Amino acid sequence: MKIAMVGSGYVGLVSGACFADFGHDVVCIDKDQSKIDALHDGIMPIYEPGLAELVGTNVKASRLSFTTDLAEGIKGAQAIFIAVGTPSRRGDGHADLSFVHAVAREVGENLANDAVVVTKSTVPVGTGDEVERILKDSGTAHNFAVVSNPEFLREGAAIGDFKRPDRIVIGAESDFGRDVMREVYRPLFLNESPILFTSRRSAELIKYAANAFLATKITFINEMADLCEKVGANVQDVSRGIGSDNRIGPKFLNAGPGYGGSCFPKDTLALLKTAEDYESPVRIVEAVVKTNDTRKRAMGRKVVDALGGPKKARGKKVALLGLTFKPNTDDMRDSPAIAIAQTLHDAGVSVAAYDPEGMDVAAPLMPEVSMTDSPYAAIEGADAVAIVTEWDAFRALDLGRVKELANAPVLVDLRNIYQPDDVRAAGFEYSSIGRA
Ligand code: UDX
Repeated sequence: MKIAMVGSGYVGLVSGACFADFGHDVVCIDKDQSKIDALHDGIMPIYEPGLAELVGTNVKASRLSFTTDLAEGIKGAQAIFIAVGTPSRRGDGHADLSFVHAVAREVGENLANDAVVVTKSTVPVGTGDEVERILKDSGTAHNFAVVSNPEFLREGAAIGDFKRPDRIVIGAESDFGRDVMREVYRPLFLNESPILFTSRRSAELIKYAANAFLATKITFINEMADLCEKVGANVQDVSRGIGSDNRIGPKFLNAGPGYGGSCFPKDTLALLKTAEDYESPVRIVEAVVKTNDTRKRAMGRKVVDALGGPKKARGKKVALLGLTFKPNTDDMRDSPAIAIAQTLHDAGVSVAAYDPEGMDVAAPLMPEVSMTDSPYAAIEGADAVAIVTEWDAFRALDLGRVKELANAPVLVDLRNIYQPDDVRAAGFEYSSIGRA
């Protein structure tokens, strides 16, 4: 089966490469000539473990190709995926659908055969209806169906998530749409990955509801962590205690500095806008968004406290270990590190940082931070070390060396990757999240 993937960013490229690996014939399309040129040279526009290898194998097997020519790329494709960006619209937080609409228009004008047009980008409820209208207005003589197929990929684990999904959600309004999508996902279907067929609007809402729910779960445990610190409890025990209830489940109960990334912040905001438009408030999600926003600066203040409070902190130096919003990515979008560095800067604290993958992206976002080439270089002369992202490289720091290099043995562990007793036994003043 031939599949066209319009948009070769994170979602498009991972999905395209995985579909090709299933044996489909996939063309990834993007307007950005330099991105397509780089892909032809085997250079990935993003850092994702295993992606370069997967792309390489499938290009070699002639199942995966790249082009900037949409008309040529969609020719003969039975499924045309729209996987372009839907950033937060400047000013109001609504998802910006201009790229999705533009692709729909171009697809309509160039459709050369019957096809199913699939929105994979995260789009507000009702976008499928609009895409259908645009295709109709293009006057195409070919049969088409518009389907919603949201993705649930986590950065850093995207290929595994794609190939072994918890579920595949397909929102379709016709047999044609459902039949083609069954064929697209047949390899997973045979693996017995559950495929959930729903209406198009339900599928669109499922994506937002899933992300808002997960963001809520994280925010809930973060607030429990704050309470743990006040009442003398341990949030990791609380997580285990509630997470072993099957109805709650153990995942997404790691307390930390607040969620970031390309999805949760943007999708929760967009859901609030949809709820507002339909006059059906989602107050829990409103609280989650606010709580998570304020948490990031609060984490900066926590580091200031570890330096002895605002007065003593002025003029001191902090080493930030980890800048990306989570490990195994170079993504800095809405990373807590940005607000933490800013808060420290505002408090007159200088910051040196190290991140295994994120420093090139981070540098322009945090001009006041000096980037270093190893954790130990960042730690040299620091009055406190703060772990912001749980990269494996920070899990087994040589604490003796840290103590020698640092100006003072103070460790703030915002991801709870160390055992308090061990670190204190090594002579550190140690603070973490939700462990009194
Ligand atoms: C998320 C969803 O998981 C995925 O299904 C969706 O398609 C896109 O958004 P992603 O943004 O890649 O994926 O990262 P994820 O691993 O979900 O983490 C998001 C944020 O939550 C990170 O900042 C992470 O540090 C934080 N988090 C996650 C916690 O603080 N605690 C947890 O227990 C889990």
